[in-house]
Amino acid sequence: MTNYVEANGARIPAVGLGTWDLRGRSCARVVEQALRLGYRHIDTAEMYDNEREIGEGLRASRVPRKDVFITTKVWQTHLSPPEFERSTKESLARLRLSEVDLLLIHWPNPHIPLAETIGALCKMKKVGYARHIGVSNFTVPMMREAVNLASEPLVTNQIEWHPYLDQSRVVKVARELGLAVTAYSPIARGRATSDRTLRTIGMARRKTAGQVCLRFLVQEGAIVIPRTSKIERLSENMSIFDFALSDAEMDEVRKLATPRGRIVEWGGAPDWDK
Ligand SMILES: NC(=O)c1ccc[n+]([C@@H]2O[C@H](COP(=O)([O-])OP(=O)(O)OC[C@H]3O[C@@H](n4cnc5c(N)ncnc54)[C@H](OP(=O)(O)O)[C@@H]3O)[C@@H](O)[C@H]2O)c1
Repeated sequence: MTNYVEANGARIPAVGLGTWDLRGRSCARVVEQALRLGYRHIDTAEMYDNEREIGEGLRASRVPRKDVFITTKVWQTHLSPPEFERSTKESLARLRLSEVDLLLIHWPNPHIPLAETIGALCKMKKVGYARHIGVSNFTVPMMREAVNLASEPLVTNQIEWHPYLDQSRVVKVARELGLAVTAYSPIARGRATSDRTLRTIGMARRKTAGQVCLRFLVQEGAIVIPRTSKIERLSENMSIFDFALSDAEMDEVRKLATPRGRIVEWGGAPDWDK
């Protein structure tokens, strides 16, 4: 059974498949298998160079299009309105879809006025290229500015979030603004899967450290998009709804956060990281 997170009119499956770095035939195969196993949410981006294979995997799975939530993102250098529209149309052509479920600004770009980019993003929803729209890698002030500028509701801010990085400030403000938070690199690019604390918590329930990590995030209200290239790990990463962490265990996991916990290189201007 799929669990969902609701935000500003969108109903987003709480677990999705991350696809950064998955390419070619193996990408299409992992997507197809994920959908057959019950995944109903796939995260891609113009920059991942795999939208064609995502579309192939979707069609090969024979899961009806309407049952799958597909997210793509417009790259940082394509945020002027004409480029934004061109990039969105090209993504749709590669995916062979008439619309995506969610279209995101991948990273902010300090050289292009946000008002123009948000205008273009909203237009993509109005003309029917995207059912929902949102942002990624937006700081608290930028998120507020984006919401003020937008004529259409923004449904998520996709940010790096895992136990080693405290994102409580962004999460709190996102919630106030009605946005969901999508946790990218949710198992810290694999680091969490060998964490001793997470492993110990999981042991009593026969859950892996990775499952405890993902469960922690969904219990915090996140949508998680773990990536794996291994078919045998797909089921593991989605089997996180048959157990719960206690308040004490949640606190224990929160203590893993450190000020230098970020693992993905920050692609915004330094003064935005406030
Ligand atoms: N918006 C953005 O700027 C942004 C930035 C980064 C990522 N993302 C999105 O978020 C997705 C996830 O983040 P990510 O790819 O950076 O990292 P991640 O999902 O945290 O970790 C992926 C790594 O963990 C390993 N792994 C996965 N499941 C495992 C398991 N059950 N046991 C052991 N190891 C496991 C994978 O290896 P194997 O393949 O060998 O299983 C891979 O090396 C991306 O794919 C992308 O869709 C978005």
